[in-house]
Parts: sequence; structure tokens; C-alpha cells
Amino acid sequence: MLGTDLTRVLGLTKEVVGTDIGDFNITEKEATVEAVSSIRPDLLVNAAAFTQVDQCEKEEEKAVAVNGEGVRNLALACLKNKVKMVQISTDYVFDGEKRTPYREEDLPHPLSVYGRSKLFGERHLQELLDRYLIVRAAWLYGAHGPNFVKTIMRLAREKEELKVVDDQWGTPTYTLHLARAIDALIETGEDGVFNVTNRGSCNWYQFACEILRLKGITINVVPATTEEIGRPARRPSFSVLDCSKFENTTNLILPHWKEAVKEFIEHEGV
Ligand SMILES: NC(=O)c1ccc[n+]([C@@H]2O[C@H](COP(=O)([O-])OP(=O)(O)OC[C@H]3O[C@@H](n4cnc5c(N)ncnc54)[C@H](OP(=O)(O)O)[C@@H]3O)[C@@H](O)[C@H]2O)c1
Repeated sequence: MLGTDLTRVLGLTKEVVGTDIGDFNITEKEATVEAVSSIRPDLLVNAAAFTQVDQCEKEEEKAVAVNGEGVRNLALACLKNKVKMVQISTDYVFDGEKRTPYREEDLPHPLSVYGRSKLFGERHLQELLDRYLIVRAAWLYGAHGPNFVKTIMRLAREKEELKVVDDQWGTPTYTLHLARAIDALIETGEDGVFNVTNRGSCNWYQFACEILRLKGITINVVPATTEEIGRPARRPSFSVLDCSKFENTTNLILPHWKEAVKEFIEHEGV
């Protein structure tokens, strides 16, 4: 989902080689080092991951292999070829106990296998490379993959009532905006960890209501607790990210999440 938007956005000003698992599998060290060495990029952006948060609980080995070791293999390839690397990480590295927006230097404490595996990836990158960007994003949706916006619209067609959690807070983020933000960060030449999301915050119930309002769909939406819904992976109840470091570094402020989802629905014809 993000990879497709990134390829397009970065491709406006840069020569981009986009690869997918069919080209090489990041869990295979030799193939990864060989592929990166043959492309010899100036910069490598990794948007590949095992992103199904609940499935990661059942497949811990795979989660660590892709999100931890896979990132390590890419970082080793970057080390060998003296390439700067950009890694996409997640708000789920935090436990949600802090009740004000998380800053880059706050101590991660993931609650799920997915969050832990993504944190392994961050740490491998930081141990191996001097030149890197870690971009922590959250609650992504976009044109090129399954996501919450598409799911809500499908369920609204299929069901008479929707139950959505109202006790997890974060910031929905449009992958097209995130891709532009990553491009802007790359242009600054800075290194380090950056939080990047759209602005504002909401819970999943409010997000669902806004999607349905924009689409003019009237259906009963019932707020529910995380406990009632009972998903396999634990998620932080609060994972709003403070993006002021990104904003001060790039002079770019991403649109509010409500504007972003409106743009997504209107422009992508969702
Ligand atoms: N989605 C979110 O809400 C969210 C929130 C915060 C951060 N992030 C992070 O943002 C990044 C992009 O997320 P996304 O939602 O765009 O992900 P996505 O749509 O699931 O895309 C991930 C891609 O990685 C590929 N991949 C999986 N295992 C691979 C492997 N071993 N080798 C090579 N490629 C592999 C997948 O291929 P297949 O489809 O063939 O498996 C897929 O094309 C990820 O790092 C994710 O952790 C996502």
C-alpha cells in the first residue's frame, strides 16, 4: 500500500527502482545483499513488512523474520554498499500508557508481536548504520491495499449495524501524504527517528463515523470497547504521535486526518 504511493511520489523527482517479494525476499540474506548490490541505489526505502497485526500473534517466527531479520538483511546490504536507508516503523512500538502525544525519544514498550518485531527492525538499523531515517507512522490507509476505510465501506454495504472500538486513540494517515512527507524528509538530508502522521487524533469509532458521513451512508454505528471486540493482538489505547520534529525539520505540516480522508475518498473514487 505505502510502497506503491512511495514509488510514484519519489518517482516525480528521482529515479526509482521499485521491488516486491517476487523480486527478492528480504528474509533471505544473500539474495537481499545481492539484489541491493546489483541495483546500487543512493538510498533504500523499506516499506516491506508483515503488517497483519493479529496474524503476527499466530506467526511470531515469520513476524520476527520479516520485520526484524528482514530489516537487518537490508541494513547489511546498505552497510556493504554505503547506502542510506529509510525504514518505516509504527506507533505500535508504544504501549499507550502515556496520555500525551508520543515523542521520538519516548521509551518504546510494544504490547504485540507485531510491535516487538518492528522494534527489532528499528534496533538492527540503528546498530548497523550511521545514515538512516526511521519514520514512525500510524493507522495507514491508501489506494493500493486493504485498509480500515475500505473495510468500513464494505461492511456498511453488507451489515445493518457496525460495532467499532472507541477506546483506542491514534491518527489515521493517508499513504499518499505519508509518501510526500518521506520525500520531504529525504530532501532535508537529515538522519534519525521521525514521527509522521496526518494531524489531529480520533478513535476508531469516530474514524468510522467520519468515513460513513463523507460517503452519505446512514447506518447504525455502535461504539464498543476493545475487550468486547476481543482481537488476538493487544493494541495501545493511545498512540498519537507528536510530529513537531518532522514539521520543524521539513517546514511541512500534513493535513488534518479529516481533510485527508475526504481527499482520499474524493480523489481515489473510493
Ligand atoms: N498499515 C498500517 O496501518 C501501518 C501503520 C504504521 C506503520 N506501518 C508500516 O508501514 C509500512 C507499509 O505498510 P503497508 O500497510 O503499506 O504494508 P502492506 O500493504 O502490507 O505492504 C507490505 C509489502 O511488503 C511485502 N512483503 C512482505 N514480506 C516480504 C518479504 N519477506 N520480502 C519482500 N517483501 C515482503 C508484501 O508483499 P505481499 O503482499 O506479497 O505479502 C507487501 O507488498 C510497513 O513497514 C508497516 O509496518 C503500517
